[in-house]
Amino acid sequence: MGAEVRTENITKSFGRQNIWQNVTLTIPPGEVSLMVGPSGTGKSVFLKCLIGLLMPEQGHIYIDGTDITTCSNKELYEIRKLFGVLFQDGALFGSMDLFDNVAFPLREHTKKNESEIKRIVMEKLELVGLLGAENKLPGEISGGMRKRAGLARALVLDPQIILVDEPDSGLDPVRTTYISQLFLDINAQIDATFLIVSHNINLARTVPDNIGMLFRRNLVMFGPREVLLTSDEPVVKQFLNGRMIGPIGMSEEKDEAQMAQEQAMVEAGHHAGGVEEVEGIVPQMKAAPGMPPRQAIKRRQDRVREIMHTLPHAAQVAIQNDLDSSAEDDDDRTEVLPAYEGSGGSHRGYDDGGYDEGVTTPHKHL
Ligand SMILES: Nc1ncnc2c1ncn2[C@@H]1O[C@H](COP(=O)(O)OP(=O)(O)O)[C@@H](O)[C@H]1O
Ligand SMILES: [Mg+2]
Repeated sequence: MGAEVRTENITKSFGRQNIWQNVTLTIPPGEVSLMVGPSGTGKSVFLKCLIGLLMPEQGHIYIDGTDITTCSNKELYEIRKLFGVLFQDGALFGSMDLFDNVAFPLREHTKKNESEIKRIVMEKLELVGLLGAENKLPGEISGGMRKRAGLARALVLDPQIILVDEPDSGLDPVRTTYISQLFLDINAQIDATFLIVSHNINLARTVPDNIGMLFRRNLVMFGPREVLLTSDEPVVKQFLNGRMIGPIGMSEEKDEAQMAQEQAMVEAGHHAGGVEEVEGIVPQMKAAPGMPPRQAIKRRQDRVREIMHTLPHAAQVAIQNDLDSSAEDDDDRTEVLPAYEGSGGSHRGYDDGGYDEGVTTPHKHL
């Protein structure tokens, strides 16, 4: 199973510009997590902090139990080997063919001989569907292929944690779904911890086990996918539906006057953008047929069962429905189980704010 990533109250600024503050979360090992947030909210900065390329001014980051904000450079070097990182543009060397690009980390960081390197490179290229393209230069292939080559390179050192920055950038919606499928398939095969950052709504709705959101220098929430996808937070609803109406503005957050003006526009019949309101949860994508089952699914079910009582009611109902339907799959029963009726509306924890066993809701009122 992949390694755990945990941040404790981290704050990052550049000079006088604060990017985000007091971010506390635990990324469950072996599961696929996603961080969303409008452009410029510091998602890439967050990833860079996790691999120790940037250092937060405050707080701690524990990777597989080691605090990388206080460890030695030698320890940090070792910790970095746990990561595979897929940067936004694939970050391939333009003058090297795909084989040499994917082989690069093996030649840099290991003493493996060329026949071992060849075996590993070909295995990873096969995993991402690029067998046969090994002699192509990055400039000769499509953006989607470049991303898959970047992913193959991120996999060669057998990472326990895979960080992915904006996998959909430059890709059409179909290619974005293909690469998302690949993440789930790879998760099924190697059980690594995934953290993807993206502002892609489809990806958020269908791919991850857990979702977090950065907005206005804060982590709005982080927890099981059902929490964010059923959230009534205006900023979350606006984001998930791609609308102009809501707290997120053109460049930064809006003021009250602008929000009122826009609301009046919509009431007068102006289209707020986005598509029709999508409510609730669509099913999560699965690993492709022929893949081993994702071990993350069972682990997550057990984990979520434990914290369920701390979650908001709508999320509890969605989780229970999911548990019921997967129990049906297991038993191969055809009867429909009765819908979960909740706990009479009493749910503790969520409204208290604060960090509560895996769900972070520190800034409820946006
Ligand atoms: N190395 C840096 N030095 C100074 N400012 C930076 C640096 N990296 C990022 N920033 C600033 O941090 C903010 C968040 O950037 P980023 O993490 O790239 O946002 P996102 O990935 O969410 O779109 C931006 O305002 C950006 O200009
Ligand atoms: Mg970014």
